[in-house]
Amino acid sequence: MQQPIAIFDSGVGGLTVVKEVMRQLPREKVIYFGDTARTPYGPRPAEEVVRFTREMVDYLIQFRPKMIVAACNTSTAVALDDIRSRVAVPVVGVIHPGARAANGRTQSGIVGVIGTEGTIHSGAYEQALKQLSPNIEVVSLACPRFVPLVEQGNFRSEETLETVRSSLVPLMETRLDTLILGCTHYPFLSETISEIMGSSVALINSADETAREISTILHDRGRLARNDELPVHQFFCSGDPLMFKKIAQQWLGEQIALTPVVWQVPKIG
Ligand code: DGL
Repeated sequence: MQQPIAIFDSGVGGLTVVKEVMRQLPREKVIYFGDTARTPYGPRPAEEVVRFTREMVDYLIQFRPKMIVAACNTSTAVALDDIRSRVAVPVVGVIHPGARAANGRTQSGIVGVIGTEGTIHSGAYEQALKQLSPNIEVVSLACPRFVPLVEQGNFRSEETLETVRSSLVPLMETRLDTLILGCTHYPFLSETISEIMGSSVALINSADETAREISTILHDRGRLARNDELPVHQFFCSGDPLMFKKIAQQWLGEQIALTPVVWQVPKIG
């Protein structure tokens, strides 16, 4: 039986990572869990995010994954070490890949990070960026109003434009040339964010770099899938399955159009 890659997030945000994994590694089977009943994680205390993350990992481990991907910056910031201490397979987060991509991209040496309150207050991006480049200047901003818009499938409305515009005002005074989308939900809003920030600011979506890291680790361990037939992906969410499925089908589009997919709503926690 093919061992899957298990990927999780507080909601639909991790689908941005799933899309890139499916694009770069089409033979790999993906098991996804979105904790849509308890999203957003951003405003929750760190201990609660650690507990919820454990519950998702405990659920996913029954599928005997060969790797676990925390496609959630908030969980990565506060729970990555905890997961690593509890499972025997490699665990990949999204913060280091995002920081690496931004560090490789910036010319001015001024990098912006937007994320949930939990991620921004943890200082995890700042730490990762300074490790790569001690002189880098990091401007961080929490954008707590973005995740609820994405979970409602509200990507391109007037309300979204206004929310993004007013939230990003503090960044307008800075001279950053690179902006990390430090929450996996934010790529759903990247067109709007880009419109507001202007074309001189490069947006960094850590999905691309995270998928490359997954590929490298599996390759180095000789664990890349070699099957000829298409894998059957499985998607789980803890909340409204209709909205979750609608957003997943819209976002993943052709990535899942040809492959069989299983959708389920289990009870966790
Ligand atoms: N998508 C998640 C992240 O990357 C969490 C968003 C939330 O639940 O607040 O941080």
